[in-house]
Amino acid sequence: MIYLDNSATTFPKPAEPLRRALEQYLQTGASPGRGGYDLAVEAEYEVEAVRRKVIRFFGGNEGWRVCFAYNATDALNTLIQGLTQEPCHVVSTRLEHNSVLRPLHHLAAQGRIALDLVPFNDQGYVEPEAVARALKPDTAFVMLNHASNVFGTVQPAAEIAALCREQGVELLLDASQSAGLHPIELEKWDVGGLAFTGHKSLLGPTGIGGLVLSPRVNPLPTRYGGTGVDSISLVHTMDYPHRLEAGTINLLGVLSLGHSLDYVTSPEHKQALARERELFALLRDGLAAIEGVELYHATGPGERLPLLSCNVRGMKAGDLAAVLDGDYEIAVRAGLHCAPLLHQDLGTSPYGSVRFSLGAFNTQADIEAALEAMTCIADVACRR
Ligand SMILES: Cc1ncc(COP(=O)(O)O)c(C=O)c1O
Repeated sequence: MIYLDNSATTFPKPAEPLRRALEQYLQTGASPGRGGYDLAVEAEYEVEAVRRKVIRFFGGNEGWRVCFAYNATDALNTLIQGLTQEPCHVVSTRLEHNSVLRPLHHLAAQGRIALDLVPFNDQGYVEPEAVARALKPDTAFVMLNHASNVFGTVQPAAEIAALCREQGVELLLDASQSAGLHPIELEKWDVGGLAFTGHKSLLGPTGIGGLVLSPRVNPLPTRYGGTGVDSISLVHTMDYPHRLEAGTINLLGVLSLGHSLDYVTSPEHKQALARERELFALLRDGLAAIEGVELYHATGPGERLPLLSCNVRGMKAGDLAAVLDGDYEIAVRAGLHCAPLLHQDLGTSPYGSVRFSLGAFNTQADIEAALEAMTCIADVACRR
């Protein structure tokens, strides 16, 4: 099987980080922060070490916070709901994933927020000036998909943040796709924070994600419960990280994330990413040369991730993916990729597109096989 669905989740995972995490968990798997005995204290130290690693990885600094969550969707819900406890205006984009669109839509439908969604341009990018124009005096924050999970386009976060900050508004990033594939410098870019997920290009397991927040961004808790601190009070603590972490955290996931971060910052992995980009260019240029294949914003200047969306003229995306799977054992994702507004604007709704997304373990042979398959399929479709 040739796996080209790494934007959904990376597969396979490197074994070493998982092995190390399991060993650590078996040795020190007590409840972190919930006991005065040595093992619980040690578990807490290990979690704190991962928090510091996460902050460093995303270019945060002294005073920045990490709150763990189950995944990006969980983190985004915590962030969005925690920042909209008072009526306000929110700006986001038509490139967003449903894990941003649905919480925002829910709040807008309840009349709790006014919402403006900025369009993307004909290259698949959000223009900083368009975001600036959407800001209002009561805009609470701007929520931006840092890298599109459909086009792969990486948005100019630093430029957008600068325009937002001029008007006293925080830019917050959904870094689900970019984390691990594109450098992120939160402090340098003057971004207020981000949500990440561990199982995509950070190469960790499912079940771990989180928020990285500047001291300027302070969501209110929207879930309350046990934190291991201030247990006498019936009011949930406002102190970080427990403010946004109710209940026992996913210790094995946190430890795995720590080891994955070591892995993705290693020189070997950086080389693998450079190779992945070369393979992506091979795939993109090869697909662009096939008669009947329609690529969506996969070429042109601008930063992008090694993923792209396309269709074969005359075929539904789901049928194309089924043929790739059934006849060629190539796994890709078809449909709307949880980005319904993007496909509305692209004119590809309701069937969507087929997405090819590369990973660090793909080979040239994988890409050549995918190109051969697409050539045959497009040839048959064009002759029909
Ligand atoms: C841009 C974007 N945001 C959010 C998510 C949600 O990630 P998770 O399913 O890990 O919560 C995804 C996953 O596909 C994504 O691509």
